[in-house]
Amino acid sequence: MANPDIDAVNQDFIRYDQVEKNHTYRLAESQSDEFDTDYEIQTFDIGRYLHGNKTDRQNFAEEFGAAVQEIGFSVLVGHDVDASIYDEINDRVEEFFTTTPMHDKMRFRAARQGSVSQGYFPIKETSDIHPDLVEGWVWCRRAFDMPQQRSSPYKPESFWPDEKYEPVFRQLATAHEALFKPITQAMFQGLGCDPHLYDEKLTQTNFGLRLNYYPPLGEADNASGAGRLLGHEDVDLFTILPAPRVGGLQVWNHHNNKWVRLHAPPGSIIINTGDYMQRITNDRLPSTTHRVGKPVDGSHTDVPRISFPMAVYIWEDEILEVLPGLGEPRYDAVKAITFHTRSTSKFYGDDYAVESPVESS
Ligand SMILES: [Fe+2]
Repeated sequence: MANPDIDAVNQDFIRYDQVEKNHTYRLAESQSDEFDTDYEIQTFDIGRYLHGNKTDRQNFAEEFGAAVQEIGFSVLVGHDVDASIYDEINDRVEEFFTTTPMHDKMRFRAARQGSVSQGYFPIKETSDIHPDLVEGWVWCRRAFDMPQQRSSPYKPESFWPDEKYEPVFRQLATAHEALFKPITQAMFQGLGCDPHLYDEKLTQTNFGLRLNYYPPLGEADNASGAGRLLGHEDVDLFTILPAPRVGGLQVWNHHNNKWVRLHAPPGSIIINTGDYMQRITNDRLPSTTHRVGKPVDGSHTDVPRISFPMAVYIWEDEILEVLPGLGEPRYDAVKAITFHTRSTSKFYGDDYAVESPVESS
């Protein structure tokens, strides 16, 4: 493992990025950071798109699209996922991390499966570049008893320290999978593109479901200057994050270089666009920086923080290219596995990158 530095800034690692990112930010929060207390990340009712008439759908696409274009983040309600699922998952994530023996966790240390670094991330080892105060676990589609088109049949023993958790977390994956196409369609429609350009790619597509368990901070970690989760941009098309109960999520406002504290109501989902989306939209939808700092209520020394974001990907052999109608492409076509692993080798080491030319598909 490299030597993580609590004072690192993003530009120290800019060579890995596969879309343009010109701003400079410190990975962990510091006394010198400025916060934007006026900006409000907007909330929309996606029920208007899921169940509305043609006008409702167009209006939603324009409003949601404009908000995402401006800041890369939005909050959605009316998404048809029962909030009781989120309550159950929250409890089961805590149970999973606090009752699974460490030797069982370590049998599933994170390793690359296709594009995704999947498995267990011990505390301070989420990435090679910053000692994040979080334990994590990632599963991609291969880890679930779901239809598999692109890989070998489901083998639970390869992914689960206790198979009882697979159906628990599968219900979340399945509920969110129903939103992959509508959210993408609305974003494309908001840009004036054909909403259905990615329907085929998103059919039984890959994803990364990540569980984050941020334990209460002891004195030494609290004083260390390390953050709960480093500033970063997601590599994906977009991320679906059910509103965490405990605060701490901060979003970079690239209009004024200040951080916005995001508080989403219980039961809502936070949506943010990632590098895949910035690439294919020719920089129209930004891959916005975010991180997890200490909550303003000071609860980080007493209670854990739990979150379970789900990243939406396309399969490794698909091609990412600028969508038609968005002007002269600023980026070349690239194989998804090349794009994804070049970018995330920032976190996992240079040998993580897989070069696969477009012509080999
Ligand atoms: Fe993220």
